Amino acid sequence: MKKISAVVAMFAVTAFAGAALAADVIELPASMGKVSFPHKKHQELLKDCKKCHEKAPGKIAELGKDWAHKTCKGCHTEMKKGPVGCKDCHKK
Ligand code: HEC
Ligand code: HEC
Ligand code: HEC
Repeated sequence: MKKISAVVAMFAVTAFAGAALAADVIELPASMGKVSFPHKKHQELLKDCKKCHEKAPGKIAELGKDWAHKTCKGCHTEMKKGPVGCKDCHKK
């Protein structure tokens, strides 16, 4: 079962053209410790929504450990930027 409920940490009330609403920071719960994902920062940094949203922006059906470690950690490793250590992502 998918355990994601994107708990909203902050509300992005600004809708820029073509982009649906999403929180600035999305809390991804995990037994290891939740991951505070700076969504807006990644949008601005990467520009390309498809880096994470393969189809359409919105909920990610595959979201979970395997997807996240491959996608998130994979890119950080590749770009030599962004957290790669367990505790750098998973905070209590
Ligand atoms: C680095 C990865 C990444 C990038 C790049 C990214 N997103 Fe997301 N986005 C996510 C994750 C992770 C979620 C949470 C998905 C979930 O809860 O199923 C999300 C959620 C969303 C949601 C749904 C929020 C909700 O709670 O319903 C929208 C809308 C969204 N993103 C739009 C965008 C748009 C538009 C872009 C490009 C400008 C973008 N995203 C770029 C990772 C990303
Ligand atoms: C780049 C950030 C990042 C790093 C680094 C990272 N993780 Fe994760 N991890 C995540 C995300 C995001 C999820 C998915 C959370 C979700 O599905 O809500 C996740 C999921 C998990 C889960 C599944 C949790 C659950 O409740 O099902 C485990 C276990 C886990 N990670 C362990 C680790 C360990 C051990 C390391 C270090 C070797 C690590 N993670 C490094 C981001 C990261
Ligand atoms: C395609 C590349 C890419 C993907 C995919 C990606 N990131 Fe990142 N991330 C980056 C880069 C580059 C930085 C460094 C930003 C900086 O230093 O300014 C970063 C930084 C971060 C930071 C630190 C932010 C800060 O303010 O210091 C966190 C936390 C993070 N990413 C979590 C995630 C999680 C969780 C995912 C998956 C849902 C993810 N990232 C997916 C490229 C990516």
